[in-house]
Amino acid sequence: MYAQMVKSTGTLKTREEMDERERAFQDRIDAGEKIEPQDWMPEGYRKTLIRQIGQHAHSEIVGQLPEGNWITRAPTLERKAILLAKVQDEAGHGLYLYCAAETLGVSRDEMTEKLHDGKMKYSSIFNYPTLTWADIGAVGWLVDGAAIMNQVALQRTSYGPYSRAMVRICKEESFHQRQGYSIMMTMAAGTPEQKRMAQDALDRLWYPSLMMFGPSDKDSVHSAQSMAWKIKVSTNDELRQKFVDQTVPQAEYLGLTIPDEKLDWNEAKGGYDFSEPDWQEFHDVLAGNGPCNADRMSARRTAWEDGAWYRDGLVAHANKRAAQRMAAE
Ligand code: 3HC
Repeated sequence: MYAQMVKSTGTLKTREEMDERERAFQDRIDAGEKIEPQDWMPEGYRKTLIRQIGQHAHSEIVGQLPEGNWITRAPTLERKAILLAKVQDEAGHGLYLYCAAETLGVSRDEMTEKLHDGKMKYSSIFNYPTLTWADIGAVGWLVDGAAIMNQVALQRTSYGPYSRAMVRICKEESFHQRQGYSIMMTMAAGTPEQKRMAQDALDRLWYPSLMMFGPSDKDSVHSAQSMAWKIKVSTNDELRQKFVDQTVPQAEYLGLTIPDEKLDWNEAKGGYDFSEPDWQEFHDVLAGNGPCNADRMSARRTAWEDGAWYRDGLVAHANKRAAQRMAAE
């Protein structure tokens, strides 16, 4: 695994193996400085950021689909307006993140093409369906909750544009998490059928939410190098543990049961022991075989093709304005 990690990210060199520029770069990282687009950076650092930020951006955009599915069926006008705002926020998050990735010399079109060709990923969680209104509550509570757990840490990531995008995204995600929890509170305190729907949503989305943090540390390909570069500031397992510790009391408050018989408070560790997700299922979803992978990709490709006339129009307009400016100079 170590060899694979080194291979995948370029190098995990000792200080002696680094050249002068690499050593100076690592010194800046170790001193907690932010790296900015104009700064020199190792090629592996740039590529890792493009992969992670691009994947994160795609997740925000694809994540609109399972929630957008319920806009027309929200139970009240207020819930509908809130959900609409949340889904729009996700589009904004995608935009900030694409812009952050573009500062590394990749275009949004290139990243989109790679997503459509299966060369870039998006979060596994969005390959699961939202079957009932309670799922919209559980997505806000668990999925946005898991996303924030990671994103709060990423505010301290070493790449300036990514870190700054995270600050704003975290503010909005915490609103998202609360709206989800508010739906869960209503459902859990509602009729027996509503409470059953809330429990069913938790049962289906619990393990997929744990998978959002990525494979366990021993199987994570990129973590060691990403941690050395402070692209990641916490490991996958550290964040997963924090998420479980935060979420269990929230489930108890709702009167719902986390679907894990092994869940148990561990006094010595100061956290819960819990069952790992089914990693075979995780790999199947990443390989394109989750319940909704085909639907999600088809929806994204169609949206991209349907929007071609608009993008062409914008480019033509920008070119015309540039030509007019040049003629006037
Ligand atoms: N879904 C899809 N792919 C995943 C994954 C997941 N949940 N977890 C890991 N992977 C992939 C990795 O991308 C990598 O594949 P690659 O080499 O082809 O890119 C492989 O599995 C091995 O995993 P690693 O642990 O080695 O990979 P990373 O170091 O990149 O860690 C990560 C994975 C923790 C997800 C990290 O990339 C990360 O922190 N990303 C930024 C956060 C992000 O993408 N969040 C998306 C959540 S959804 C969201 O924010 C939307 C909101 O509205 C809810």
